[in-house]
Amino acid sequence: MRKKIIAGNWKMFKDLAEANDFFKELIENLHESKTEIMVAPSFTNLWHSFQTTRDYPIEIIAQNMHEENYGAFTGEISAEMLKSVGIQRVILGHSERRLFFGETDEQLKKKVNCAIHNEMHFIFCIGEELKDRNANHHFTVIKNQLKNSLFEISEKDWKYIVVAYEPVWAIGTGETASPEQAQEMHQFIRKTIANVYGNEIAENVSILYGGSVKPENAKQLFQQSDIDGALVGGASLKVSSFIKIIQAI
Ligand code: 13P
Repeated sequence: MRKKIIAGNWKMFKDLAEANDFFKELIENLHESKTEIMVAPSFTNLWHSFQTTRDYPIEIIAQNMHEENYGAFTGEISAEMLKSVGIQRVILGHSERRLFFGETDEQLKKKVNCAIHNEMHFIFCIGEELKDRNANHHFTVIKNQLKNSLFEISEKDWKYIVVAYEPVWAIGTGETASPEQAQEMHQFIRKTIANVYGNEIAENVSILYGGSVKPENAKQLFQQSDIDGALVGGASLKVSSFIKIIQAI
């Protein structure tokens, strides 16, 4: 059975005090649920956030990591460093990393291999730009992103992977993919994985939707059979909206 997951990606928001306030409020308002709850604060907040939440069903995850284990890479963070502060999962391939920091499928393949080598779980983000969708290339773009970075890993390593479909045109724009558009792509992603790795692996991988998920649209998205949760940006910054999204699943 695949897992239901709601993950908050804070991007470059919240300092230490703000993160602390958020987790205090989240813990106070959290109800028992089978949904896995994850939050990705900035690197500077990881250790403290991990300590604050370690007795609660909240997993603190990282937003990025480098593809090498160590070396002269000023400003970068390794899987081992993340693990040393309690982090077991990282977001890889977010479209903001691809667009603003030049991350390529080839580099992401190295990050994927590095994560697996370090037994680090990861949320692997894929998504097409508006021009791809307008040109009707969106399925090809998604298939290539999967193929170029993920499809050389071995079957046993799929246990480390959660996929997140985040259409770039829906991120931070207020424009969400319709539940039907999202379901169509999630089904395609699952089928593409099944074609290479078989049905069992495809049926067990959680595929999250991301892009302007809000309390108002979450329920309809989660009703789709291939949507297993969400990767939430803006609406994960406030406990009230984050909790409402968790309750919608
Ligand atoms: P928004 O929810 O702010 O559109 O961001 C989505 C996202 O990029 C999550 O990783």
